[in-house]
Amino acid sequence: MKLRYFSHSSFQIKTDAGHTLLIDPFLDDNPTSPVKSADLAADFIVLTHGHGDHVGDAFKIAKRTRALFICVNELANYCIGKGFSAHNMHIGGAHTFDFGRLKFTIAHHGSMTPDNTYGGEPAGVIITADGKSVYHTGDTGLFYDMKLIGEMTPIDYMLLPIGDNFTMGIEDAVKAVELANPKVAIPMHYNTFPVIAADPGEFKKKVEAIGKKARVMNYGEEILL
Ligand code: NI
Ligand code: MN
Repeated sequence: MKLRYFSHSSFQIKTDAGHTLLIDPFLDDNPTSPVKSADLAADFIVLTHGHGDHVGDAFKIAKRTRALFICVNELANYCIGKGFSAHNMHIGGAHTFDFGRLKFTIAHHGSMTPDNTYGGEPAGVIITADGKSVYHTGDTGLFYDMKLIGEMTPIDYMLLPIGDNFTMGIEDAVKAVELANPKVAIPMHYNTFPVIAADPGEFKKKVEAIGKKARVMNYGEEILL
């Protein structure tokens, strides 16, 4: 499968069988995204929580592509209420879709939607497809259960925030990598706005200093997993 990074927490996964998933597609109002929502296709849209910088352009994209939303129950119902199709799940649950298996994990954060609807609990998500697993932590602070998450599903790629203020900063993110023990850590949720300025190179160095691998993805870059 291929993983593409748009900046902030926005990623695209393309499986070998040709399924396209978007995670937290925040593009048109994102000053760092090199692509616009109109340029993207999607079969599935995964939202980690209801904040505006994660729901982003999801509805615009779903209107055009008829993509299926995959979210925790309350956020899925919010999408259904807007006239879209959704698969309702919740934290701790996994389900096998056409593209592979998807499991929601805990995240410590909030999840109110831009129009002040309760979006349920915020989540992280593990997507397993084509023999690889990708753990997108969502917006979260550091928590010790990341160790358990990594034990239950060996993680190939961990996508985790380093921007501080709303989420983990670099120091906590390095500890998160130690706990979840992925093969490769990819930083996200930094430098989109001044308040979450962080140096991904510093994160990479600190991850390497604990004997782990990190990969800083450029905005718009696609890598083969
Ligand atoms: Ni958030
Ligand atoms: Mn956020």
